[in-house]
Amino acid sequence: MERENWTSKLGFILAASGSAIGLGNIWRFPYLTGTNGGAAFLFIYLACIIFIGYPVLIAEMSLGKKTAKNPIGAFKQLAPDTPWWLVGALGVLAGFVILSFYSVVAGWGMAYTVKAIGGFSPDADFAAMFGNHISGVGGPLFWHAAFMFLTIAVIGAGVVKGIQKVVKILMPILFFIIIIMIVRALTLDGAMAGLSFYLKPDFSNIKLQTFIDAISQSFFTLSLGLGTMITYGSYLSKNDSISDSAGYVVIFDTAIAFLAGFAIFPAVFALGFDPAAGPGLTFITLPAVFAEMPLGGLFSFLFFILLTIAALTSSISMLEVVVAYLVDEHHWNRKKASYLFGFLIFLFGIPPLLGYSSLSEIRFLGMDILDTYDWFSNSLFLPIGGLLTSVFVAHIWGAKNAVNEANDNSDILKVGQIFVFLLKYIVPLAISIIIILNIVSSF
Ligand code: TRP
Repeated sequence: MERENWTSKLGFILAASGSAIGLGNIWRFPYLTGTNGGAAFLFIYLACIIFIGYPVLIAEMSLGKKTAKNPIGAFKQLAPDTPWWLVGALGVLAGFVILSFYSVVAGWGMAYTVKAIGGFSPDADFAAMFGNHISGVGGPLFWHAAFMFLTIAVIGAGVVKGIQKVVKILMPILFFIIIIMIVRALTLDGAMAGLSFYLKPDFSNIKLQTFIDAISQSFFTLSLGLGTMITYGSYLSKNDSISDSAGYVVIFDTAIAFLAGFAIFPAVFALGFDPAAGPGLTFITLPAVFAEMPLGGLFSFLFFILLTIAALTSSISMLEVVVAYLVDEHHWNRKKASYLFGFLIFLFGIPPLLGYSSLSEIRFLGMDILDTYDWFSNSLFLPIGGLLTSVFVAHIWGAKNAVNEANDNSDILKVGQIFVFLLKYIVPLAISIIIILNIVSSF
């Protein structure tokens, strides 16, 4: 069967941006910024995106475009008869694991979208409401299944008729909702206090952990280390360009993360809530904030729709890595691969889902099952995948080849010596440090 190609440059940029923009932008980035010194963090984060994220993004897309293969096939083609394909295999495995719990969390978001339609009472105990929701079984299971079904349906429909079609509809909606949310938040009395919390540089909050957070976030938010961007790059045609398209992806992803903070912090402050609430911010603090404000029901509904859309355009990119492997290497039918592996991923998500009820006794290093899945994938698989990918591109395939592939047909932005230097030395060094610190700090 013919391998598909994106039918337009915009299609590719929106698909890659959709993968990048996810829970990491809407929830994690604003929260990290708020607790890591506001604008001071922003500065460090931007440096990480430009000097670490952007080069790895280009490296992955170039591998994909060059080989027109899934991650495993891409490494096999460029380094036949070596164990390098294992890096691709690690990515396929990580895609499987991350999607299984990403879907559980996205399912909570879908459940809250529906709850928001009924409206939230300002007197409700939102912490108890969230605790009750996740410690249930039927509800979370239903929404986890529903979210996986949506993901499977998009991927089963194909690259052009599935992924590209869906992102062309959903990404503009996502952008539009964010703008509405910002206008609402900024026009509340007391919004300024939130803005100054978000943006005032506070250098006293910069610690070693700030740098670790900034590097890890730049990796996660650009969907790197798992072969997602190899896979999406593999559907580029030979006349497409990478270095400028990757530039747009970086700009869109950063802009949405930054804007999410404008939608969240002014509202949190205006209504007197704690901005450093941590993981509960999305599901506990925000519903409480919305319940207090005029037209709150509508805005909580919009916010959770936003979260669900952002999650869906990311989850499809994880399933695509797994499906592309089965289709390319084992010549499976795309629909069969999507439904069968989507179902297996759904099953694999059940233990973390039950980690808040019947399996709550099961702990690893003090973490529940969902956090354990998250730890293995985000602290180990992704950085190791990213490290080995950058070493492979810089030293085995050759940075020059990547530069040629990346610059081909691009006239706005080209990469050169700086890119080669970053990819050869800075990126591997920075990621190695992160991996070691992640492991040391967890034990
Ligand atoms: N980038 C997405 C976010 O910010 C998450 C994501 C999607 C991802 N695909 C990925 C992270 C691949 C790592 C690897 O939420």
